[in-house]
Amino acid sequence: MSAPRPGLGAVTRGRILFGGDYNPEQWPEVTWHDDVRLMRDAGVNSVTVGVFSWSRLEPRPGVREFGWLDRLMDLLHEHGIGVVLATPTSAPPPWLGRLHPETLPRDADGRVEWWGGRQHFSHSSAVYRRHAAAITEDLAARYAHHPALTLWHINNEYCTADWGDEAAARFRDWLRARHGDLAGLNSAWGTAFWSQGYGDWAEVLPPRHAHYLKNPTQVLDFKRFTSDMLLECYTAERDIVRRHTPGVPVTTNFMPLWAGQDAWRWAEEEDVVSVDLYPDPRDPHGAQHGALVQDMTRSQAGGPWMLMEQAASAVNWRPVNRPKPPGLNRLWSLQAVARGADAVCYFQWRQSRQGAEKFHSGMVGHAGEHGRAFREVGRLGAELARIAPEVTGRHSRADIAVLHDWHAWWASAHEGRLSTRVDHADLLTTWHRALWRAHLATDFAHPEHDLGAYRMVVVPQLYALTDRAVENLVGYVRDGGTLVSGFLTGVADQDDRIREGGMDARLRALFGIRTLHEWWPLETGETATTDAFDGTLWSEEIDKTPDAVAEAVYRGGDLDGLPAVLRTGRAWYLSTLPAPDALRDLLASIARDAGTGPVLAGLPADVEAVRRGDLLFLLHHGRGTVTVEVPGSHRDLLTGTVHTGTVVLGRYGAAVLAP
Ligand code: GLA
Repeated sequence: MSAPRPGLGAVTRGRILFGGDYNPEQWPEVTWHDDVRLMRDAGVNSVTVGVFSWSRLEPRPGVREFGWLDRLMDLLHEHGIGVVLATPTSAPPPWLGRLHPETLPRDADGRVEWWGGRQHFSHSSAVYRRHAAAITEDLAARYAHHPALTLWHINNEYCTADWGDEAAARFRDWLRARHGDLAGLNSAWGTAFWSQGYGDWAEVLPPRHAHYLKNPTQVLDFKRFTSDMLLECYTAERDIVRRHTPGVPVTTNFMPLWAGQDAWRWAEEEDVVSVDLYPDPRDPHGAQHGALVQDMTRSQAGGPWMLMEQAASAVNWRPVNRPKPPGLNRLWSLQAVARGADAVCYFQWRQSRQGAEKFHSGMVGHAGEHGRAFREVGRLGAELARIAPEVTGRHSRADIAVLHDWHAWWASAHEGRLSTRVDHADLLTTWHRALWRAHLATDFAHPEHDLGAYRMVVVPQLYALTDRAVENLVGYVRDGGTLVSGFLTGVADQDDRIREGGMDARLRALFGIRTLHEWWPLETGETATTDAFDGTLWSEEIDKTPDAVAEAVYRGGDLDGLPAVLRTGRAWYLSTLPAPDALRDLLASIARDAGTGPVLAGLPADVEAVRRGDLLFLLHHGRGTVTVEVPGSHRDLLTGTVHTGTVVLGRYGAAVLAP
């Protein structure tokens, strides 16, 4: 048995990590001294260094220039600031691409992704992997015993795919491991269709540019392969740094709800789960988007997690980028802490003056230490330090799990589907939003996870399910759980082969669907009226079994009189998407019957309540002033005030209540 891995607690030690990506190579050394002074002022205790430093560390092949990083690490340590040290492998130096063009990825059209941006590496390139391992090895050896080192950050936002020749060769190896021989591949991919039968492995390619619709299972397997190849790149570097520093935890930062990585699988390979989160300050659903990503990250971590990046104010990659208004940075930071973050960090410390992100905010913006953003950052740093001792390490589990699986997402996204309006991530967001608006706390789970601890499990949509997942859902209901499923669930198996009858027979039996005759997708603006609500997006022509109850029935149109919502015991099936308020109310009422309810009764619409251990966070996402009824007396950790019966929250106000 190997020793248990250190987690985030080994780094935080009762503090909330506060800081951000620090790119000192963009600044003269004299500025570094200003930086550490301001970091101290702002309560920064952690910075992430080296993310894009490869060409500085290895300006020519095999040359190492660590002197500047030595001085920087020493300086940070002298000022009590810990370092999350990144391997620089997401942005190879130009010389690598020039000397070894095979390290550059190609897109599906065969175009090379050149240097001049970032992430221009082929996950499959042996040469890239060798060079990445070498710089990682030397970095780890050099700083293994440096007292500033707290955490390893491998690469950055792994996201590249590659359709090139070396990737094709690795894809074939990956397919051999998955499907065995060509007969297995031909069967899984259904190559009897359109004369696609493969007689030689050399014929098997990534799904490159094609005249018309590509083979869906080829596309699905390529997405799996891409996630696995990137994971191999991650674990290769992780294993190097672990060998040098067994006691230092390792992470890599996820993008939120990112289609390119099976994050359930990846999280298993991390000591600390971290995520980058950039809700749009102008999006009325920004807070809920944040809540979703935070719920998912907490669920992947199974404990405290790290907000690796957020913006102090504006980003620069939306069509129009507005700053965060006063108070919003604080509110959204506390929202992350409420949902289990023990680290609140930013991209980036000091706003760049050159390069592609010079209009992206920093903790220290172009306005410098007198700018509003920095002043707000400093106040937040002080507040986080105040609440940290009573907050860190605590974990909460929700009563409700929302199921999500990347493989189902990938399979559902094929271009030949019945409606491009139906999108896995949109549905996940819509269902989570309905639960969030009902003030119901949610975890996320994988369909093969043990769901026994949850009172209610909801499936916005899981188009493809393995047999194991199907059995898991059936078993969950058999053991007393309440399951609510949206349409297009269990339609296909893991190879995207449609299940007999258009939906897995075990699931049809579970929900009381006798025959699923036809799918009836709806146009934009079109609704399917039922006797209970208006359905959107989708509708279905189904017959029910005698023991199933039609909880809502289509009225008018081609489906008149057919069931829209079916229930058999504790298993619910929604063949359409109820309008937002109806979905919220339906899920709230099913939750009540399942024995769970809102985090706090009688909450105003704009106020979110989140429990973390026995702490209660109140977060006001509105601009006016509200009064929240909270039975009993509570001490607000932010202010020290004791509240009895009510808490008044101003614009973007927050309270962290201890019993
Ligand atoms: C990502 C990256 C950062 C930076 C930010 C900008 O999260 O990891 O390097 O580009 O986006 O928002």
